[in-house]
Amino acid sequence: MSSQIDHLLDETRRFAPSEEFVAQTISSPELYERAAADREAFWGEQSRDLVHWHKPFTQVLDWTNPPFAKWFDDGELNVAYNCLDRHVEEGNGDRVALHWEGEPGDSRRITYAELTAEVKRVANVLEGLGIGQGDRVAIYLPMIPEAIASMLAVARVGAIHSVVFGGFSADSLRSRIDDAGAKLVITADGGYRKGRVSALKPAVDQALADRGEGEQQTVEHVLVVRRGENEVDWVEGRDLWWHDVVPAASAEHTAQAFPAENPLFILYTSGTTGKPKGILHTSGGYLTQVAYSHKYVFDLHPETDVFWCTADIGWITGHSYVTYGPLANGATQVLYEGTPDAPHPGRWWEIIEKYKVSIFYTAPTAIRSFMKIGRSVPKKFDLSSLRLLGSVGEPINPEAWMWYREVIGAGKTPIVDTWWQTETGAIMVSALPGVTETKPGSAQVPLPGISIDVVDEQGVEVGNGNGGLLVITEPWPSMLRGIWGDPERYRETYWEKFEDQGYYFAGDGARLDEDGDLWLLGRVDDVMNVSGHRLSTAEIESSLVAHEATAEAAVVGASDETTGQAVVAFVIIKESYLAEHEPAGLAQLLRLWVGEQIGAIARPRDVYIVGELPKTRSGKIMRRLLRDVAEGREVGDTTTLADTAVMSIISAQVK
Ligand code: PRX
Repeated sequence: MSSQIDHLLDETRRFAPSEEFVAQTISSPELYERAAADREAFWGEQSRDLVHWHKPFTQVLDWTNPPFAKWFDDGELNVAYNCLDRHVEEGNGDRVALHWEGEPGDSRRITYAELTAEVKRVANVLEGLGIGQGDRVAIYLPMIPEAIASMLAVARVGAIHSVVFGGFSADSLRSRIDDAGAKLVITADGGYRKGRVSALKPAVDQALADRGEGEQQTVEHVLVVRRGENEVDWVEGRDLWWHDVVPAASAEHTAQAFPAENPLFILYTSGTTGKPKGILHTSGGYLTQVAYSHKYVFDLHPETDVFWCTADIGWITGHSYVTYGPLANGATQVLYEGTPDAPHPGRWWEIIEKYKVSIFYTAPTAIRSFMKIGRSVPKKFDLSSLRLLGSVGEPINPEAWMWYREVIGAGKTPIVDTWWQTETGAIMVSALPGVTETKPGSAQVPLPGISIDVVDEQGVEVGNGNGGLLVITEPWPSMLRGIWGDPERYRETYWEKFEDQGYYFAGDGARLDEDGDLWLLGRVDDVMNVSGHRLSTAEIESSLVAHEATAEAAVVGASDETTGQAVVAFVIIKESYLAEHEPAGLAQLLRLWVGEQIGAIARPRDVYIVGELPKTRSGKIMRRLLRDVAEGREVGDTTTLADTAVMSIISAQVK
């Protein structure tokens, strides 16, 4: 990490927004001033301005029982009404909500009026199936308009969605369905990925099959969208085709108001233990901050802009900047089903040209893979509609930042590098594009209304020019409200480390430069970041040891030029297994096994079969040393190992 820091410190380029950009921006330095003058009053103003409250709130924040916050607690709203009906009532029903593009090239243009009618029908179907306030609905869908309609319909009836990324395996889906106790699953036969139909329904069938003793089957129905036209198995009485029930339902549905703290969704994310955490978000505060950040960070002009966030709805970025932020703000956006390179490597740029996308939000890993292919591909397309670019999910290296600005942004668009997490719900750190002079590689400054600091292990401010741990020092509206079913784990994971100060510990290392700008330096815990996706070393290790061949496993995140980090596994094979099986092909077998168990994103880049793992005298695996091997570096200090010879054996085995 130290070479990375040195490299970052050499970065002196600065880019002020152009006069043209400043002339039209909706933000101003005054936002910072108002927020600094009275933070709570500022959030109250933002919420009243951006959200329609059926019943207005009288108190902004209740922080009498930290770390359990209540925002706008006595107010009532309907999140779906905010994203749909009110735009129609305000005369914007004909505005395009979604320009949907299927991977094979089919497309649909859906207005706010049409999306509102569709969501009302789905809400009626949900209520007909007995889904109401507080019930959990799992959503396992490709990037099709029905995915957004499903999320909003669940929100509309006051229920809680748990979206599970379509790339996750049946096992991962099953544990999420069970943890949340979902009553309904909404899925599709399949969706298009990389030029072919990838089936989804079989994973749902498998996830719902074979409940063992003591395991409760909570799912009553499965609602299935037809997209892939692939053959599916059918369970009579449980499964329903979307096209049978949704079009037949009434398009009349009155949105009922729910309390501000009514849970909106659970989203599972990897932590430092083997079991993913169900991060819980509620309604009023979440909607306020996603609408606010979407408006100001992306300088949104809803009448003229075309926004495109490339994230899948299975991740928090898709929740906040595909579904809730843009729709709450009445934006027009692009929704794309497939992969960036199907059927050709210029697919994304072709889509930007086709829909005249003006604001584009993606992850550094994508930018780096386009850099590898070369600028000749994007150069073939007219990208002149772009006026603002965003980055999210992992640190963006200055080279990728510059390429993004020059090649995609014609050397003129501001770039906003946005730092946030599943837990924070919305963007926390970012430049304001019409105000801030940007620096390649730095996420820069907390948004107005957000309080962030960098502290040492004791919680003491490190001050400008120093590195430490990123903390959030004041509660914020879209903060997680807990971990589903485990309030104690919530307190322990995020609040215990800086209990005396009352700070939220984000798990990220960061540095403040001489100007006080933030530079994110990656996770300081056992969470990896692969292509902007969070993976836990413990979760992959437990999947590896679940294989009959494995005696022990250790997983590390090693730096990777394209994906930021890559999963590298070191595995000891059982003697008994080797006695009966050939060792050849074992590494590949284990790679695929992890893919099946968790999902393709968790598949290790490398699996090394080794004789031993480096452990301290107390038996703790020293991942730092394994990371040295995985990154091809000289192995660091081994003096605390129980057996100091182990590392040279491992290094030799890996070679
Ligand atoms: O390490 C940080 C990194 O991604 C983590 C959060 O991952 P997740 O909950 O999956 O949410 C990703 C999308 C918001 C953070 O703890 N991260 C996210 N954005 C940035 C980042 N690291 C550096 N710069 C960013 N802009």
